[in-house]
Amino acid sequence: MAILITGGAGYIGSVTTELLRGRGEQVVVLDNLSRGYRDAVAPEVPFYQGNIGDRELVTRIVEEHDIDACVHFAALAYVGESVTQPDLYYENNVAQGVQLLTALVSAGVRRVVFSSTCATYGEPQQIPIDETHPQMPANPYGWSKLFVERILADYDRAYDLKFVALRYFNAAGASPSRGERHEPETHLIPLVLQAALKEIDHVTVFGNDYPTHDGTCVRDYIHVSDLGDAHALALKYLRAGNPSTAINLGNGQGYSVLEVIETAREVTGREIAVEMQGRRAGDPSHLVADSSKARSVLDWQPQHADLTTIISSAWEWHAKKGLLT
Ligand SMILES: NC(=O)c1ccc[n+]([C@@H]2O[C@H](COP(=O)([O-])OP(=O)(O)OC[C@H]3O[C@@H](n4cnc5c(N)ncnc54)[C@H](O)[C@@H]3O)[C@@H](O)[C@H]2O)c1
Repeated sequence: MAILITGGAGYIGSVTTELLRGRGEQVVVLDNLSRGYRDAVAPEVPFYQGNIGDRELVTRIVEEHDIDACVHFAALAYVGESVTQPDLYYENNVAQGVQLLTALVSAGVRRVVFSSTCATYGEPQQIPIDETHPQMPANPYGWSKLFVERILADYDRAYDLKFVALRYFNAAGASPSRGERHEPETHLIPLVLQAALKEIDHVTVFGNDYPTHDGTCVRDYIHVSDLGDAHALALKYLRAGNPSTAINLGNGQGYSVLEVIETAREVTGREIAVEMQGRRAGDPSHLVADSSKARSVLDWQPQHADLTTIISSAWEWHAKKGLLT
């Protein structure tokens, strides 16, 4: 039996692919490389360059590799781009997602772990956010993920497809061999490290008048290897015959933008220049997870929860990458 990993050439997908291989799983990657990197997938891993919406290809992969489960990372994932080009997001994430799920159930695959997001909650009504919080996304990216959650629930009822929707908060950090390589980069921690390396002039902070302790936005950062671990546990949960569910993945601890920058100064020992700008539309002041369900249902125990560890791992990866380029 093997696991199909869509988006396995991307950031979280490549770390999770390595982690699953390390635990003795057979893995197969499907990625169109629109946002990923071929060298993020080890040469020994069967790799198919193609779209998740290509039903023939998905069917062939399932048959050739005896696939019993799919971990579905592949998506476009820039909030700003989804606002200016919603068609891209609904086509890639939703329309192609339907093709993928239909091909999987038609070929007999009944287990899916899906990369969902805290962006499906929209503006928080209470903090920390648990899984019962109303879902009212503030942008097409969040809607595209919520639609797929909905489709999964309907496929469960109609076709007995069992799924775990993992709603990640802010993924960050790196494993010893794989890390974050988004182009363009919009995530705070890699941008802060780019500023430390003088790859960019400064980090822009959007808004310092939020109702938080220092006025900047507070986010919940989760180490990418802890995320990978949760996927392994979600697969175990599904293979044990458990019902479909949605589970938050965060550390339950919020850090402000200025705290992230200060910690990065300590970790790197370098100057990090900051430029203050006004608030960006649609940024909630706090996004912090209640992750007790991940601990109780999956028995998930994050190993790299503190911010210094997360940033140190990203710095090691980033510095290594800097030396190579
Ligand atoms: N990075 C985060 O903090 C975060 C937070 C919440 C949710 N997520 C979700 O986690 C998943 C992975 O995120 P990431 O940061 O690793 O992103 P990423 O862009 O690094 O990886 C996504 C991968 O999917 C591939 N892909 C996209 N559309 C495809 C398609 N139609 N067919 C085949 N391959 C396709 C890309 O080439 C890329 O390799 C995404 O679904 C994202 O929405 C990420």
